Amino acid sequence: MKRKGIILAGGNGTRMFPVSQVISKQLLLIYDKPMIYYPLSVLMHANIKDILIISSAKDLVLIKKILKNGSDFGVRLFYKSQNKPEGIAQGLVLAERFLNKSKSALICGDNLFTGEKLPLKLKKANNSKKSIFFLKKVNNPNEYGVFFKNKNKKLIIEKPKKKISNLAVTGLYFFDENATKIAKTLTKSERGEYEITDLNNYYIKKNRYKQIILNSKEKWFDMGTSDRIQKASNFIFKYKNKMISYYPEEIALNKKWISKSKIINKIKRHHNSSNYIKYLKKLIVYDK
Ligand code: TTP
Repeated sequence: MKRKGIILAGGNGTRMFPVSQVISKQLLLIYDKPMIYYPLSVLMHANIKDILIISSAKDLVLIKKILKNGSDFGVRLFYKSQNKPEGIAQGLVLAERFLNKSKSALICGDNLFTGEKLPLKLKKANNSKKSIFFLKKVNNPNEYGVFFKNKNKKLIIEKPKKKISNLAVTGLYFFDENATKIAKTLTKSERGEYEITDLNNYYIKKNRYKQIILNSKEKWFDMGTSDRIQKASNFIFKYKNKMISYYPEEIALNKKWISKSKIINKIKRHHNSSNYIKYLKKLIVYDK
């Protein structure tokens, strides 16, 4: 069965106060498009076409208004509400029916990945039988789950107080078909969440995982704070023509999942001078 994707686009977003009182951070603008377009693009680069978006019922209404059923992008989008943000691993339980025992790729809705070779790595990950974590060297490992390895053991430690490793576990995980079954056995952590780290540690213990370390040319932004949103937005603005595409229409066109006429119709429907529409116009002028 083909691998299916999950975008976890809910959360409390407390670090985004005051805007988090009214809107999910995943709808905030990162340069010319909402944040959720970036994780959606990553899944599409991995050749994943069935994607479940999880968020609060209130925010799903807004996300659906923008992304609809995915046909503009040649993918199929599904939606599931999370009544209370009780952890990333809960996403796999909420996705049980959608996944229907298929393999999955789960990405956090506030994560941005970039790098020329990334699409290749993502496609390889899609073909893997084992689960995969994407790791990245960071200067502030105490803010993330970090991958620790010595002669005797390997494990992920959530927000370690001491510096034990600088390899952060990013918010992109490829799981085998057992992830929901295992996620259902997890108990809540002290902070009241079903931790993705517990699920990942299960796979490490059973040696049913692989790690991919992102290199220095492959950037990772966790856009969970206002500072990091600013940094990511600046980065996208600065390198916008030198990066992998985050325009789902362009990715779909290159993969032949949609035809140019679909984009032309979209431009006609949304006749405006936004940077987004300007970009789509360029796509249909130049033959790619
Ligand atoms: P976090 O940034 O760890 O948590 P948060 O979004 O609740 O923010 P804060 O810590 O500022 O309160 O979440 C990582 C990603 O996972 C983010 O895209 C939101 C998403 N998420 C859910 O969709 N459901 C959840 O239950 C949790 C915990 C996170």
